[in-house]
This record gives sequence, structure tokens and C-alpha cells, in this order.
Amino acid sequence: MKISSLRKHAFTSSAITQSDIRRVTVIGSGQMGSGIAQVAAMKQHEVTLVDVNQEALERGKGYMSKSLKRVAKKKFPEDAKAQNQFVEKALGHVTLSTNASKSVSNAGLVVEAVVENLKAKQNIFVKLAMEAPDNAILASNTSSLPIAKIAAPLTLSQRKRFIGLHFFNPVPQMKLVEVVRSDEVDQKTVDDAVAFVKSIGKTPAVCKDTPGFIVNRLLLPYMMESIRLLESGVASARDIDTAMKLGAGYPMGPFELCDYVGLDTIKFIVDGWYKEGAGLKGNKLFESSKKLDELVQAGSLGVKSGKGFYDY
Ligand code: CAA
Ligand code: NAD
Repeated sequence: MKISSLRKHAFTSSAITQSDIRRVTVIGSGQMGSGIAQVAAMKQHEVTLVDVNQEALERGKGYMSKSLKRVAKKKFPEDAKAQNQFVEKALGHVTLSTNASKSVSNAGLVVEAVVENLKAKQNIFVKLAMEAPDNAILASNTSSLPIAKIAAPLTLSQRKRFIGLHFFNPVPQMKLVEVVRSDEVDQKTVDDAVAFVKSIGKTPAVCKDTPGFIVNRLLLPYMMESIRLLESGVASARDIDTAMKLGAGYPMGPFELCDYVGLDTIKFIVDGWYKEGAGLKGNKLFESSKKLDELVQAGSLGVKSGKGFYDY
């Protein structure tokens, strides 16, 4: 089965072009997926945004509308009509779908942004890699999982087209995208991914497939140390946030940032690394904390659930 599918790819697939990559399918319409869909649509890419049900898709559309209105207000400060046109034009480039198979059948790029769970991501790619065109780029927005591990169940031809595209929250505002290369990805895929990132107005940083890539490898220890500082009673969450904003110039304090990212996502990341992160396993920096466990257990996941370290 694997060999015959390799032959098929070797003889029938033609190289992907930048115009093919303008057809983007985003799987997962949460905070990140809706942001990725939005920034691609703002640059006139044809985007299909997929989630498991209509309710999730409508929530994703709500995130996009709200954010697009902010962007439009800045672009056309005195012109309500131009603001509306801008929002409608961008939304006009996004199709919502609960049918993942159909939505990838003509895609040049598939970006996955579902829950931070290895099995869930692998299941999606095993199914969709077969249904997407033979030359489509397959990308994960994982925060912490090894790109090679997500791609492991795929064929070699699919793994050569598999890459990490790590966006930052809030996607419309954060300028960076980490382009994460596994040992197996081919150079053309890396080059095409970098060109895509630039085409949507972002700045790429290419890096190796190591836990946390660049940003999260530095950010997660900071977040976890902040939670431990709170647990040890040194200061309140509010005072630690104020200290880091006014004393270190950070735009958000660590607890505001944890709530913004999502406490479930943070817990998935640190638990994964503590249990089996390459070079990080057993590292005390990533040991879970009682406070984080309690909040996640209670469903207090931060801004997205209305409650976390703070109430929203
Ligand atoms: N959509 C569009 N624009 C947005 C936006 C959104 N969702 N959120 C904020 N903005 C824009 C605002 O319109 C405003 O624009 P101007 O300055 O041009 O007027 C600008 O961002 C600042 O917004 P605000 O004045 O409302 O608020 P702020 O000054 O507090 O900034 C922030 C908000 C940009 C989120 C800022 O607090 C910030 O940069 N925080 C840190 C975010 C961060 O570190 N993100 C990375 C998280 S880690 C991650 O994502 C990786 C992972 O895998 C977990
Ligand atoms: P989220 O909880 O806001 O959204 C996840 C979405 O995926 C939900 O709408 C859910 O219904 C959907 N989903 C789950 N299974 C699905 C499936 N099989 N098919 C289609 N949709 C499915 O999460 P998020 O914060 O957007 O994070 C998504 C991914 O992005 C995670 O891998 C996370 O680690 C990564 N990430 C998060 C951040 C952040 O700051 N939150 C930043 C960068 C990367």
C-alpha cells in the first residue's frame, strides 16, 4: 500500500505553484484557526475554514468579524462604508465547512489548528493527506508537538510536504510565523512555506523541529515560573503582571498571557514535554503546577472560557 502510493506520487504529481497555494484549507476554527483564515483572506487567498460543527464555525466567524472590524477601523478611520466593505470583502474569501474531506480536495495548502493532541492531529492528517492533491503542502500549527511525530503515520511523499507553520496569538496582530522543518521535509516545501508566510504579510523564522521551536521554548519556562512564584506566595497575580509590564516592558503580564493563550493549551504543552519532550523529559521547568491543574480541571481555561487566573 505504502509503495504503490509512493509510485503514484513519483509519477503523477507536478510541483505545487504559488498560485495553487492561494487555495488554503484551515482545519479548526478556534482562536488560532480563525486568525490564520482571516489573515490569508485579507490577502485574497481563497480560504475554507473547517470545524466539527456549525456552532464552532459560527464562533470562528465571530472572532474573524470582530478582529476584521478592528483592522478596518484603523485602515479607514473616518469611513464607515469603506470599513464595512473591507470586512465583507475579507469574509467573502472564507467558506465555512464541516466537511473536511471535500474542503481539502482542491487545496494547495492545508493548515491544521485543532486541539494540542498528537493522536487527534495524526488522525486528521492520515485521512486528509489521502484526500488532498498529491502535491499539496501539509502544515500543522502545533505549539509543542514534534512535526516529525505528527507526520510519522504518513507516506514518505507526504512527509516531504509536511511542515510546521507556527502562528502566534492574536494572529492578525503578531508578525511572526515559525517555519519548522523536520529532517524529512524537502527544501521546496520549506521555500514555498516561507513564500506563503510572506504573502500574508508575516515574517518567517525557519527553525529545526525541536520542542518549543524558538518562542515557546523560552516563553513556557517564563509562564510556569510565574505560576510557581504565585503559588509560593511571593506576590499576587495582579502584582506579578504589573511588575513584568512596568518593570520589563512586556505588553501583557504572564497571567494575562496564560489566560490569553488558553490554560488547557499550556497544560498540554508542559505535560507533553515533561513526560517525553526530547531533551526536556523530567525537566522541573515543565513540571505541572497544582494551580494550573486545578484551573484546567474546573474548566477555567482563560479568556476563551470567561475565567482563568482572572474573570472576563
Ligand atoms: N485582531 C486585530 N487587531 C488586534 C487584535 C486582534 N485580535 N488584538 C489586538 N489588535 C491590535 C489593536 O487593534 C491595536 O492596534 P493599533 O496599535 O494599531 O491601534 C493593537 O493590536 C494593540 O491592541 P490594544 O490597544 O487593544 O491592546 P494592547 O496594546 O494590550 O495589545 C496585544 C494587545 C497585541 C495582544 C498585546 O497585549 C500583546 O502583544 N500581547 C502579547 C501577545 C503574545 O505574547 N502573544 C504570543 C502568545 S504565545 C503563542 O501564541 C504561541 C503558542 O504556541 C502558545
Ligand atoms: P481552540 O480550542 O481555540 O480551537 C480548537 C478548535 O479545533 C475548536 O474549534 C475545535 O472544535 C476544533 N477541532 C477539534 N477537533 C477537530 C477536528 N477533528 N476537525 C476540525 N476541527 C476540530 O484552540 P487554539 O488556541 O486555536 O489552538 C489550536 C492549535 O494551535 C493547538 O495545536 C495549539 O497548541 C496551537 N496554538 C495555540 C496558540 C494559542 O495561543 N492559543 C498559539 C499558537 C499555536
